[in-house]
Amino acid sequence: RTHFESQRGRTFAMIKPDCYSHIGKIVDTIVTAGFRISHMKMAHFTIDDARQFYAEHQGKPFYNELVNFMASDVVVGMELIAENAVPRWRELMGPTNPNTARVDAPRSLRAVFGTEGSHNAVHGSDAPASATREINFFFGLQANPAVLNNCTCCVI
Ligand code: TYD
Ligand code: MG
Repeated sequence: RTHFESQRGRTFAMIKPDCYSHIGKIVDTIVTAGFRISHMKMAHFTIDDARQFYAEHQGKPFYNELVNFMASDVVVGMELIAENAVPRWRELMGPTNPNTARVDAPRSLRAVFGTEGSHNAVHGSDAPASATREINFFFGLQANPAVLNNCTCCVI
């Protein structure tokens, strides 16, 4: 970890499967807002990956839908560096519920690109300790050849 990164905060950001067609616009918004993207990777969660990533929500009524959605297509994960990275990225995302976001923060990413429920465009860590866990989890994921070979998002 460089001196530059350690002097500033970091967070984990992820573009969810509903925003594949908006990846460019969302990355542009992140950079324009002043974040430095120190790591970025595309991945396709298995159901088990998604269950582990969102383990804190196990047992809640939206958990199974959330897990199935997160494993439904590719995601883009990023480590973002900025002063107060965790709250600043959450502010750019907007409220969890896109319909609330459209009222309370109409220019936020969830207001603009989210639909409803788990289809809310982007993820952000809720605290620095969560950011560390999520960055280690996401960038430590091994590419699963079976998933890549069965990928239905592209025909190569
Ligand atoms: P949560 O961690 O509470 O929200 P955030 O992503 O803002 O940190 O919930 C994780 C995800 O679960 C959330 O992004 C969307 C989904 N979710 C629902 O579908 N319904 C809900 O009522 C909640 C609270 C979350
Ligand atoms: Mg959360």
